[in-house]
Amino acid sequence: MITLPHHYEFLSERWLDQAREFLTRHVGPTRNIAPFSICERFSDAPPHLNFTDNIATWSAVFDGTNLSVTRDFKESADLKVTGDYQAALTAAQAIGALAPDTVAAAMTEVTHIFGRNALSVRGSISDPETTQLLGLLHDHLGRHTVENPDLAHRAQRLGIASQVREMEEQGFTVIERAISPEFADQMRAATLQALLPHHHMQLQWMLYHGQPFERIAQNPQLMTLIDASLGRGAVIASLSSIRRGPGPGTIPLHTDYSMIPEPFPEFAMTGVGVWAFEDWSVASGPTWIVPGSHLERRNPRKGEGLDRGIPIEMPKGSVVYFTHGVWHWQGDRSLPGERVTLHSHFNRGILRGLEPKKVDVQMLHRNPPRLGEMLGEDDWFDKLTAQGRDYERAAYMAKLQAFTDQRKHDLLATPA
Ligand SMILES: [Fe+2]
Repeated sequence: MITLPHHYEFLSERWLDQAREFLTRHVGPTRNIAPFSICERFSDAPPHLNFTDNIATWSAVFDGTNLSVTRDFKESADLKVTGDYQAALTAAQAIGALAPDTVAAAMTEVTHIFGRNALSVRGSISDPETTQLLGLLHDHLGRHTVENPDLAHRAQRLGIASQVREMEEQGFTVIERAISPEFADQMRAATLQALLPHHHMQLQWMLYHGQPFERIAQNPQLMTLIDASLGRGAVIASLSSIRRGPGPGTIPLHTDYSMIPEPFPEFAMTGVGVWAFEDWSVASGPTWIVPGSHLERRNPRKGEGLDRGIPIEMPKGSVVYFTHGVWHWQGDRSLPGERVTLHSHFNRGILRGLEPKKVDVQMLHRNPPRLGEMLGEDDWFDKLTAQGRDYERAAYMAKLQAFTDQRKHDLLATPA
């Protein structure tokens, strides 16, 4: 397992130990918790976890006196959850089990990504104290549970292996309907509220405008593309919102490689995911991209490239991710009304960002480790202890990146 000591992988031995330790602490004689039993079993776990047939199982049984947390599947459990490991891991990373609407919103996105049959819940727990205890357990584990580090396995389970290949070949790719239409509408409203009418056409630091922004920043499909192009430990360069009305585009053909000498490196340094909160068509003023131009490893020369660009047309809730110095520009808008977008701009972890990072401990507490990683919490840059450099984080990130590189290589070597 590749994690920092305070993190763990979903359903790993350390995860199970933490579940046991938490429940033992909370079912003590003073709490008067009623007997309960829960059991979960998920298929297609990543092979490096070494489960038999890649099926991960656990259960917790409390008989009123004794607690047992084991790997057994209990057919008679009060509550049984079964389904796909990656879907369950996505749900496990949603913090706020007892907060109104949080679980429902998270489950809407899990269903949207993985389909209605990805997870099945049978039975129920009716005792309110036990429900609360299990909600607290979920959150406690979730804020330490890392994303699946196996890039190839994760991309495949998320259904975006072909997009990783396309990104390598074309310098960009689109994930259609990466979020639900409901979430896209919520994001559009939240963005317009943050931008203030008649005031801002553009605003940065969008991560700090509330939980919907924190959730979309961690979207598992986009983050998988970012892991694949910029490596693990990639950090937020800026999270910006832009709204624009009708008229000619205002951002001419360019690359996102400011201050990077030519020829550009053979690996990607920066990447931008643009979220569409309305349908994108030629008339809506979409981003235009020159496919494969990243392979030239340079900026476009004057008058070059426009004849080779294509418009990014995609439905509401989709994200286009472009990286590696690919050439692009903002199109003209002939439609009335405003186009509202969120630009998730990430840098390889060795680079500085455009926005100062604000590491808010309360924000970290209501999110899984994924959020801390993009704020630089998991690498050794900008850190110093009395003992000197943070070699623990340096070693962790090097190991995680080596695994990511290997699995990206495997994914690209596998025929589509
Ligand atoms: Fe750009």
